[in-house]
Amino acid sequence: MDGNGRWAKQRRQPRIAGHRAGVENVRAMVRHCVETGIECLTIFAFSSENWRRPPTEVRLLMDLFIRALRGEMRRLHDNGVRLRVIGERTAFSAKLQDAILDAEHLTRDNTRLQLTIAANYGGQWDLTEAARQLAMAVAAGRLQPADITSEMLAQHLCLADLPEPDLFIRSGGERRVSNYLLWQLAYTELYFTDCLWPDFDVPEFTRALESYAGRQRRFGMTGDQVERATSASGLHLGNA
Ligand code: IPE
Ligand code: MG
Repeated sequence: MDGNGRWAKQRRQPRIAGHRAGVENVRAMVRHCVETGIECLTIFAFSSENWRRPPTEVRLLMDLFIRALRGEMRRLHDNGVRLRVIGERTAFSAKLQDAILDAEHLTRDNTRLQLTIAANYGGQWDLTEAARQLAMAVAAGRLQPADITSEMLAQHLCLADLPEPDLFIRSGGERRVSNYLLWQLAYTELYFTDCLWPDFDVPEFTRALESYAGRQRRFGMTGDQVERATSASGLHLGNA
């Protein structure tokens, strides 16, 4: 979600007004995902690099996060949404950590939409933590270095229980992954739009999904192989 600050600037409003509009938009997009049957949505709310922003903006973002969690968790629960937060949460205030735990606890059995919020998250941090887990297993004699597999590493990442993301959307005009789900994005289709996050509405989302639907996902195979496999199985991958 990028472009909140510029959206506010366009309107001669303080940056926090853009963040508020951004939160409103998260609500609308979550609703849209629930309605259209999208099963997993992971949003990048605050990166491990965002602490470098002016302290007042960081504080306002944290307050907004607490208020959004407290204000939305009941409605999320009623709509079958499971909410989880990934990232180094011990850096947050006790109040925010409590709000996160309460929302996760309330919604833990829901299955309609897996909503994950990445907060104080970084892909490099995620991989480092997974490496640390494996190293601890080696140090304890439970694992031999030669037996380490990529699947094993993947099992120690934050989103281990979710499928790999099909589509990555970045709003706000930058063409970067910015330390997001580095491992998980290996075969994800990337979509970039200049649209600022508070303006990213249902027609914009539909455009992103249409772009995705028009692509052929080859996973290293040739186009002919994919076509043969899909016509044999009656599937039409990338053209759903
Ligand atoms: C994204 O909007 C929201 C957060 C990172 C919290 P920005 O705040 O990055 O908006 P711009 O890039 O300044 O427009
Ligand atoms: Mg930005």
